[in-house]
Order: sequence, then structure tokens, then C-alpha cells
Amino acid sequence: MKKINLAVVGATGMVGRTFLKVLEEKDLPIENFYVFSSARSAGSKIIFKGKEYIVEELTETSFDRGIDIALFSAGGDTSTKFAPIAARKGCVVVDNSSAWRMDEKVPLVVPEVNPEDIKWHQGIIANPNCSTIQAVVALKPLHEYYSITRVVYSTYQAVSGAGMAGWSDLEESLKGNLPKKFPHPIASNCIPHIDVFLDNGYTKEEMKMIEETRKIMHVPDLKVTATTVRVPVFNSHSESINVEFEKPFELSELVDVLKNAPGIIMQNDSANNEYPLASTATDHDEVFVGRIRRDESVNSGVNLWVVADNIRKGAASNAVQIAELLIAALQ
Ligand code: A2P
Repeated sequence: MKKINLAVVGATGMVGRTFLKVLEEKDLPIENFYVFSSARSAGSKIIFKGKEYIVEELTETSFDRGIDIALFSAGGDTSTKFAPIAARKGCVVVDNSSAWRMDEKVPLVVPEVNPEDIKWHQGIIANPNCSTIQAVVALKPLHEYYSITRVVYSTYQAVSGAGMAGWSDLEESLKGNLPKKFPHPIASNCIPHIDVFLDNGYTKEEMKMIEETRKIMHVPDLKVTATTVRVPVFNSHSESINVEFEKPFELSELVDVLKNAPGIIMQNDSANNEYPLASTATDHDEVFVGRIRRDESVNSGVNLWVVADNIRKGAASNAVQIAELLIAALQ
């Protein structure tokens, strides 16, 4: 098997550390391994597969050494500047920021949904928003069977989605200290405000979910709306998803469709209090689906409760799965 040179950019961050963890579990054929951060953490040490690596400051010459794949999670500004530099040097960037997601030349990929899109990359592949990834894993099989006409998202998002700063805000907020990351104390609130507000009254997070769902599912005119909410949960995002279909469906068949779809674990036994929870989804790569019930207010519609580890499937594991597809294509 051809071995590759792999880099992690933002290796000291919340997602970056999980990249390392997932890469250790997956056993990719790595020849040389590099870890980058800003000047702040440069020089610190990271242990990967029992070997010590020194974190290097990311600079314009960082990719001058035959790096095949770089997993980026160092914020939008870093990706905007450095992903094209890496791509020009022949590296394929799998970028976790939102900087490139809606660029027409950049595929936006969830391996269970649109793996074929990696074929047309020009050096950058975008990893979707965490809330979008878990949603489309559940929506794709339903679209294939029943043709989705409208989606309503309501999210309950963990603080880990806001990085180390978000995590520490919840810890500090639980002690009664004032927030540094969020606009209000997160310990006792559900904050309906993730990312910045836009002119249309939506937040950028909400528009990401709307636009990215259309792009990944290849349905540019799909009717989608979203309300995204930060909740006092450390890890794993929960989502209520209301879906309307063109075609009629049998509920038992729809449950089977989801049960047999790739990357899904069904927890749909309400009689025994079994439904997806953030605490059980944490540390897993699958998307957990339950509370499946007919929406009795429309002709053909369903309600779902969908939970996944936003740092693993919502970020690191999805990016590593994309890297696996790239490596398989090289063999
Ligand atoms: P650093 O540790 O040097 O700040 P999180 O979102 O969890 O806060 O993580 C952000 C990650 O992105 C960290 O690894 C951080 O490194 C890295 N990072 C931030 N700014 C830059 C930059 N300009 N160049 C490279 N890495 C950066």
C-alpha cells in the first residue's frame, strides 16, 4: 500500500486533538507525520502512535516538503490563507472551517452521503458544519426513498462546537463566572445564537445548515429552515428534524430504511425510554436516530431526533473518512 505524508493543522485545538486520536485508531498508511499550530503553541510536544512530534508554527513554507494530505482545523482565516498555498504545493487539504464550503470549485463531502464528490477536487475538500453532517447522514436515505420536499431543523448544540474556549466557558459558567466566549452565561441558558447574525435575521450557523444541506444532497432548491441553539451540554449535538416528503410512506418501512443506512445507529424504543442522548453518542462515530414518529399535521412527514458526537463525526472522523477515500483513490 502506498504510504502518504500527512499533516494536521491546528493540532493543539479541540478538533485537532481529536484528529490525532481518530488517526491513531484508524491505522492509515502514514510515512511522515507533521503537526502545525500558531506561534503560540509552536515548540510544544505531541505523542502520536508512541512517537514524539514537535508542533511547528504554520508558515508559507510549511508545505514545501511533499505533504500529500493536510487536515485543517485552525479557523477560517488560517484556511483562507494557507489552504491554497498547500494546494499549490500538491497537497490535498481537508478543511474543517467554513471558509471554502460554499465555493463552487470545492466539494463538500460526507462519505456516507456523497463520496463521489471527492473526485472533482482541485486541492481543497471541505468538511461540512458539524450540525449539517449528522443531519444529512439521516436525510440522505430518506430522500432516496421518499423524495424530501422540506426540512425544519432545530438544534441543541454542545459547547465543544465552540472549541476550547466554548468548553471552558461552560466549566466557568457552572462555577458562576462570567462568559468569555458566549454572549450570555451558558450554564443556565439555551442561547439561540450561534455564530454571527446576518441581515435576514438568521445566524450564520443557521444559514450554513441550510446551504450546506442543499449542496451535499445535490438539491439546490430544497426548502430548508433552521434554528440553531447552544445548550449547556459539553459534547455531542442533538437535533430535532422535521421532514416532509413528496411520496407517502409506511412508518415501519421508514424506520427500516434508516436502520439499514450507513453510519446510523437506531435507538427508537420510546416504551423503554430508549432514544439518542448526547452522553451516549459521545466517543462514537455513528449518528444516533430515534423518536421517529409521523408528523400528523402534514400529508407525508416525519419527526426525528438525531444525535452525534460533533467533534468526532461532526468534524474529525468525517475528515479522516475523507482522507481514507483519498488514500483509497491513490492505490
Ligand atoms: P494554538 O494552540 O497555537 O492557538 P480551538 O478551535 O480548539 O481553539 O483550536 C484552534 C487551533 O487552531 C489550535 O491548534 C490553534 O493553535 C490553531 N491556530 C489558530 N490560529 C492559527 C494560525 N494562525 N496558524 C496555525 N494554527 C492556528
